[in-house]
Amino acid sequence: MTEEIERLRRDIENELADIATSEELEAFRLKHLVKKGSLADVTKRFKDVPPADKPAIGKQLNELRQFANTRFQELQNSLQVSKAASTSLDLSLAGRKPPLGTAHPISQMIDEFVRIFGSFGFDVADGPEIEDDYHNFDALNFAPNHPARDMQDTFFLADSDENLLLRTHTSPAQIRLMRTCKPPLRFIVPGRVYRNEAIDSTHLAEFYQVEGLYVDRNVSLADLKGTLIAFVEELFEGRTTKYRFRPSFFPFTEPSAEFDVLFSGSKGEAWLEMGGCGMVHPNVLQNCGIDPEEYTGFAFGFGVERLAMLKHGIDNIRLFYENDVRVLRQLS
Ligand code: DAH
Repeated sequence: MTEEIERLRRDIENELADIATSEELEAFRLKHLVKKGSLADVTKRFKDVPPADKPAIGKQLNELRQFANTRFQELQNSLQVSKAASTSLDLSLAGRKPPLGTAHPISQMIDEFVRIFGSFGFDVADGPEIEDDYHNFDALNFAPNHPARDMQDTFFLADSDENLLLRTHTSPAQIRLMRTCKPPLRFIVPGRVYRNEAIDSTHLAEFYQVEGLYVDRNVSLADLKGTLIAFVEELFEGRTTKYRFRPSFFPFTEPSAEFDVLFSGSKGEAWLEMGGCGMVHPNVLQNCGIDPEEYTGFAFGFGVERLAMLKHGIDNIRLFYENDVRVLRQLS
């Protein structure tokens, strides 16, 4: 019987070595491991073994059964794993694209300012959103009783001794730039501003402006006009046809103007206001230690949301901040 078990072991080892599919493994199980299989068959005949040989043959038989069962289990596990792997990986399936985000329309508009004014030689600067009364008003030539300082418009910070406030415009950045840089200086300052205003479809209490400032010898009103017209022509890609500078008033510029452009759209033509501008007031230059006899400058301030509304044909400013992905996707 020893030889018989030895032969069976060799057969089993050879068969196991060739098994590559679960069908082959199943055939192996039916041949050797079931009740009527080869192993059960020798086990049944073990009772006829002479008692003296029983310990040795019993050991040999047990080892073979253990070996066959263990290898069977191992093969079954590894075939299941590779089957699961082969069914979950379908190489013919089309790939799934991860949803792509886009820059927010307000960020895109600011990027446009940076790109276009960058091409005109303007650098980008920054200023604090918490300002003091001096930079936001005094240094910009606001009279002490100017209505813009009114509690209705300005958010003052509670309990601040230094008259701290949330800047109502980006113009205080002009003061900081002129006090730290020597002319010639050419900057734009994009940033968030705050006003204590009722919110409606065209007004928010918190919005973005881009300030522009150019100070040098011989800067003229013609430079201002040429620069702003070149900007909107580039920004609106030729959808603007006529320009007008409407006389206006800002304490920090003289003369001051509102810059309007004539838009031609599907609904006809309309004059639309881009923002305020003017020649930097001599008092402002003086407040910053720049000699107004030697230097002149122009400045402008544009509302970013307003331009983004015009660019995208949107009539409700709140759409920008509801962050409805469907809207944001359309505006990308
Ligand atoms: N600061 C003004 C505002 O918030 C906008 C403005 C007007 C800025 C004229 C300027 C300017 O630099 O020259 O309404």
